Amino acid sequence: MDKLLIDDPALHASALAGLTASPKTLEAKWFYDAAGSALFERITELPEYYPTRTEAAILRAGTDRLAAAVPDDAALVELGSGASVKTRILLDRLDHLAAYVPIDISATFLAQVAEGLRAAYPALPILPVTGDFMSPVTLPPRIADRPKVAFFPGSTIGNLEPADATALLARIRDWPGIARFILGVDLVKDPATLTAAYDDAAGVTAAFNLNLLHRLNREAGADFDPDGFAHEARWNADAARIEMHLVSRHAQTVRLGDTEIAFAAGESIHTENSHKYTRDSLAGLAGVAGWRIADWMTDPDDLFAVSILEPAP
Ligand code: AVJ
Repeated sequence: MDKLLIDDPALHASALAGLTASPKTLEAKWFYDAAGSALFERITELPEYYPTRTEAAILRAGTDRLAAAVPDDAALVELGSGASVKTRILLDRLDHLAAYVPIDISATFLAQVAEGLRAAYPALPILPVTGDFMSPVTLPPRIADRPKVAFFPGSTIGNLEPADATALLARIRDWPGIARFILGVDLVKDPATLTAAYDDAAGVTAAFNLNLLHRLNREAGADFDPDGFAHEARWNADAARIEMHLVSRHAQTVRLGDTEIAFAAGESIHTENSHKYTRDSLAGLAGVAGWRIADWMTDPDDLFAVSILEPAP
């Protein structure tokens, strides 16, 4: 524990800014290293974590409505495509697409996924774009003249503060030829269901949250004792969001590179926001960005929604 290696300067800089701020924060985007991505895959299979399976069921039940919303010869552009598992539900039904454009930050993973999709959909051009969909992306020239349908499932938009979510919606609204935005959002519901989804009995979400500290130790020159922090999921009713925190179990000092960071007993690091929506709150957010809700598909229990947005007149 004497050699503290900084392998990832961007991670170190972000953690330094977040952990010297008050209250302390870490950016949620750092969850997804190899270990964190594997833990997130396990989260999606937990009995308490309803979003993934519920959204897949909504998409499966709604393929006709989705197909009707996608213009002929459109390009389907997915933000943060990952393994493109849910996309296959759409691709199985949409036989009139000009191309599928998965955008993802991980080039190697994206290349693998594209290979698998080309094998499964030999007639469909698969045009992967490596990039962070949070910044402006350059779409492939081949789809320049196509109508575009953006696809952003998983309620990943919920990680964003409302102002940032609006900015993202507005940026996509400006794509030339944008026709629709298929957007998955998790819905406001009773707090017990929500907190259970982010604090499961098997402790997988706790491990996912604590992996941030392991990652800082591995890659950013930190010496956290992860056992000194407790995972907590809090429902913030005013902001309509689940917050994940790592709460210091006792007073302690942690090193990050050459900086010493002091924690009081009970002091927290705020690691994630997961905003929840209603039809009205999403209509408001989307409306500011120039969209209106053209279709709204939910499960029988109103846990999750797939919303089809169209440019507002
Ligand atoms: C991937 C951002 C949609 O907010 O539900 C799951 C991440 N965090 N459990 C979510 C997450 C804790 C997830 N998103």
